[in-house]
Amino acid sequence: MMKITSFQAYHVAYQKSIESPDEFWEEMAQYFSWRQPWQEVLSGDFASARSEWFRGAKLNITDNAIDRHALAQPHQMALIWEPNDPQTPTRSFTYLQLQQEVMKVAEMLRTLGVKKGDRVCIYMGMVPELTFAVLACARIGAIHSVIFGGFSAKSIADRLEDAGAQFIITMDAAQRGNKMIPLKSVVDEALSNGYPIQKVLVLDYLHTPCNHAHHDVDWKDLYQQVEAMNAYATKGQEMDAEDPLFILYTSGSTGKPKGVVHSTAGYMVWTAFTFLNVFQYQPGEVHFCTADVGWVTGHSYLIYGPLLNGATSVMFEGVPNYPDAGRFWEIVAKHKVNLFYTAPTAIRSLMSAGDEWLEGKDLSSLRVLGSVGEPINQEAWQWYHDRVGKGNCPIVDTFWQTETGGIMISNLAGVTPQKPVFATLPLPGVLPVLLDDQGMEITENNVTGNLCFAQPWPSMIRTTWGDHERCLLNYFTTYPGYYFTGDGAYRDEEGMYRLAGRVDDVLNVSGHRIGTAEVENAINHAPQVIESAVVGYPHDIKGQGIFAFVICDHQHEMDIPSIQTKIVKTVVEQIGPIAKPDRLVIVSGLPKTRSGKIMRRILRKIAEGEFESIGDTTTLLDPSVVEEIIRIVTANKVAH
Ligand code: PRX
Repeated sequence: MMKITSFQAYHVAYQKSIESPDEFWEEMAQYFSWRQPWQEVLSGDFASARSEWFRGAKLNITDNAIDRHALAQPHQMALIWEPNDPQTPTRSFTYLQLQQEVMKVAEMLRTLGVKKGDRVCIYMGMVPELTFAVLACARIGAIHSVIFGGFSAKSIADRLEDAGAQFIITMDAAQRGNKMIPLKSVVDEALSNGYPIQKVLVLDYLHTPCNHAHHDVDWKDLYQQVEAMNAYATKGQEMDAEDPLFILYTSGSTGKPKGVVHSTAGYMVWTAFTFLNVFQYQPGEVHFCTADVGWVTGHSYLIYGPLLNGATSVMFEGVPNYPDAGRFWEIVAKHKVNLFYTAPTAIRSLMSAGDEWLEGKDLSSLRVLGSVGEPINQEAWQWYHDRVGKGNCPIVDTFWQTETGGIMISNLAGVTPQKPVFATLPLPGVLPVLLDDQGMEITENNVTGNLCFAQPWPSMIRTTWGDHERCLLNYFTTYPGYYFTGDGAYRDEEGMYRLAGRVDDVLNVSGHRIGTAEVENAINHAPQVIESAVVGYPHDIKGQGIFAFVICDHQHEMDIPSIQTKIVKTVVEQIGPIAKPDRLVIVSGLPKTRSGKIMRRILRKIAEGEFESIGDTTTLLDPSVVEEIIRIVTANKVAH
């Protein structure tokens, strides 16, 4: 794979990727093993979101992520698993061992009847078997759809239905810090409406008591059968370049979460290329991505990107502050981590825990630090740089999205300039533009605008599962001819980008994407709720917090704390704990225009505590509601 090692080389590569993308990506694709070459590098039409990459090629991504390395460097470590409890032994797998495990799980899935193109939902904790399950799906050509362990039964049911999934892989329970999550019973509840699932494969991990349904199959029993058959020396299924590799659900500004679809070849090329170049990976290095595989970062930079490069990837089961706030640094020291990739929320929370947790931890192996998922603030950036990196490690601030498949804007560690709190420059193949609200391209520098991409790239979203129209509407019609990120960005005089947060109704809470409409919809399911409005507000640790304004029936007769508790409980049932409002006030009216539209701008100001700069309220149907809301918010400072 081409590694860009100087700023000069970056400029050359970038220029070529924009002027002759076909040639550029054809060259990058040479580094992979293909069962059959492509007929055309890029075809299709960006405007209708129908681009295809490497059309006609045949491959299996695991040929490249596993088999190639199992042959060339069988004893190189592929996966190091660090358990939740530091006393539990680490589990490690070389490329040869990873290959055997993935083959076995692939065979288990085949035995269950999983076929190419079937959708397999994976709802598991961060254990090695989750990685095997993902790769086993890829190996047999089934489409994996991983669901984060923090989602509720209702969220799972919605996703199963939308994806038309035939199979689920889960485990009895997962552990995160001192919490236990009863995954299997959540799955049982998700299936309780009679969803026609074919099989549920259950890993008995913590040996907690579970119900057994007729469609349940025990992982260990099946594993033993397959092992006894010794039937695992099989190659991966031959796939077309554009066959879907996975579906991952993510929130938008409207409606239910949508299933972002990524296809095989383009995603493979992009994740491999970006991992190598952004982190400047050197053979033999250990990479620790702290993201959960339930999110895209875990897909692209815990599993696929590192493995495609033959790297060693660390997978951590737990949370940063368990048993104490030194856990990440202990893991870094224990496994001699070279490349460390985490989210600003984790950095802020560890920073606030105090520097003493870094003391006595040998962090000298660290070479590159990465940040992802939300804007990083100056203070957190500096702490990360000075205290964690001891001033010696470049920080890559990587901007991308579930829909982009991999990193889009970032410095290349130590190769292209870094600038605190700036994602900096686009990767080769990425053509960012800033558009004003009328859709006109802003060509000058020192400006802020709506961030779009003007050229297709190999790992761009292919469709939203089952509803291509929605994909078009969400990303390609706001500004015709461009892919719209939903983010605002500032471009400085040197052409470097700084992300400025979402410009739509999507929140970013602890690096997790949540749509305000989704939370409102959940709140509206609570008893007595008539209407609600949700906005984000700045939160010291989480980046953004969720602020809910709710109107209830008979609210004068009610016990406010008890209704607040009921509403929060409903949100947890409808979406999951990640969408819990941080603040929730019961109000008697919302600021609406005469045409009935809620003025969120006003609610955002109130949530931010900026009561003085609310602006004009004369267009409101009833301006007095604003005063009432301010009064309630000021009186009710307690977080929930
Ligand atoms: O708002 C941007 C923010 O996260 C959103 C994408 O969220 P998701 O699809 O969950 O993917 C997260 C992991 C890639 C973006 O629209 N975001 C992501 N990275 C950054 C960021 N905001 C600022 N700086 C970043 N580096």
